[in-house]
Amino acid sequence: MRASNPIVISVLLFSTLLALQVVNGALVNNFYRRTCPLAERIIQDVTFRLVRSNPGLGAQLLRLQFHDCFVRGCDASILLDTVGTNPSEKEARPNLSLLGFDAIDQIKSEVERVCSGVVSCADILALATRDAVSFPFKNRPRWPVLTGRRDGTISRSSDVTGNIPSPFSGFDTLKQIFEKKGLTVSDLVILSGGHTIGVAHCGTFSRRLYNFTGKGDADPSLDPKYANFLRTKCPNPADPSITVEMDPRSSASFDSNYFKILTQNKGLFQSDAALLNNTSSSRLVRSLQNPRFFSSSFARSMLKMAAIEVLTGNNNGEIRKRCRFVN
Ligand code: HEM
Ligand SMILES: *[C@@H]1O[C@H](CO)[C@@H](O)[C@H](O)[C@H]1NC(C)=O
Ligand SMILES: *[C@@H]1O[C@H](CO)[C@@H](O)[C@H](O)[C@H]1NC(C)=O
Ligand SMILES: *[C@@H]1O[C@H](CO)[C@@H](O)[C@H](O)[C@H]1NC(C)=O
Ligand SMILES: *[C@@H]1O[C@H](CO)[C@@H](O)[C@H](O)[C@H]1NC(C)=O
Repeated sequence: MRASNPIVISVLLFSTLLALQVVNGALVNNFYRRTCPLAERIIQDVTFRLVRSNPGLGAQLLRLQFHDCFVRGCDASILLDTVGTNPSEKEARPNLSLLGFDAIDQIKSEVERVCSGVVSCADILALATRDAVSFPFKNRPRWPVLTGRRDGTISRSSDVTGNIPSPFSGFDTLKQIFEKKGLTVSDLVILSGGHTIGVAHCGTFSRRLYNFTGKGDADPSLDPKYANFLRTKCPNPADPSITVEMDPRSSASFDSNYFKILTQNKGLFQSDAALLNNTSSSRLVRSLQNPRFFSSSFARSMLKMAAIEVLTGNNNGEIRKRCRFVN
């Protein structure tokens, strides 16, 4: 994949974009064309600068965007700080270690300097995520991003429950959560490929290593040699300061290796392993080992995820001045 022709990729992305214009309704290509023509350029420049000093930023933002879109839609509600006594989304239990908030603040303030009150935090998150993940493949955006989202004004930690899947979820729960968002089982499998980059804390999977059923046993669906390796990384009880790669030895590269290790029973979470527990999803896991197929599929599913319950038009939401606070 590394050597692929950029023109072929552009054509692929473009046709994906055309095909999805319908699905994405009100979102459009380059929404700020007239109101802030430099917006996408500034976002990309700042993002590239930030990734250079923090190579993990792509993974951090990708997870942040996922958590944003699955709770009240892609409205940047995940970015809001708690005000008063009602805890915001980012305080909820599954936030465990969400990062990237400071990067969004920096990008937003550089955009505001040029176009004040024009570009939404929700669009900045979507664009910066794409740019950060694409950075190691300079000049080769991994997926197209449509824009025109507005920012929500509500963020409640209680809304997180039941909308963000847990690493202990089985197939049926995962399927249900994705279907509630208008995403299919295929989208579930394809987007789980986001775990090709980034890291996880030991506590999210250590039960599989030490005490799967409460009898001091390991999860039989986890490769025993890989479980041995993970036990050397993660002593029992789980140390909250330790993280491991989700896609071993390939966690910095956005490739299809996640689907290969999955078929070797080396998926890190029960929710990863669960993708093998259904005939049609496990067939898709095998197909997605093909890098080109993974690449084009991921782009298509990201367009769908990035359009979940978006606020658009002039009467919905607002354009926040600061991403952590409503105006
Ligand atoms: C299918 C259900 C999913 C579950 C149960 C799940 C669960 C998790 C968990 C538990 C972590 C580790 C958090 C930590 O310990 O710090 C994680 C990390 C991550 N997830 Fe997911 N996830 C799911 C789907 C997705 C999707 C759809 C995406 C994006 C397309 C995604 C992208 C990521 C990324 C990039 C990381 C690494 C973050 C970092 O390195 O900071 N995940 N996920
Ligand atoms: C995540 O939630 C916990 C409470 O469960 C809170 O203490 C922590 O500050 C939150 N993390 C972020 C990044 O807001
Ligand atoms: C394993 O789980 C059981 C039941 O939850 C608990 O009583 C026991 O202390 C755990 N053992 C270890 C080694 O964590
Ligand atoms: C998948 O199915 C196997 C049995 O075929 C079962 O042992 C395992 O617990 C299931 N895994 C998940 C995550 O549901
Ligand atoms: C697998 O998932 C598909 C799609 O949700 C469903 O139609 C099918 O019944 C499932 N098969 C099994 C064996 O659970």
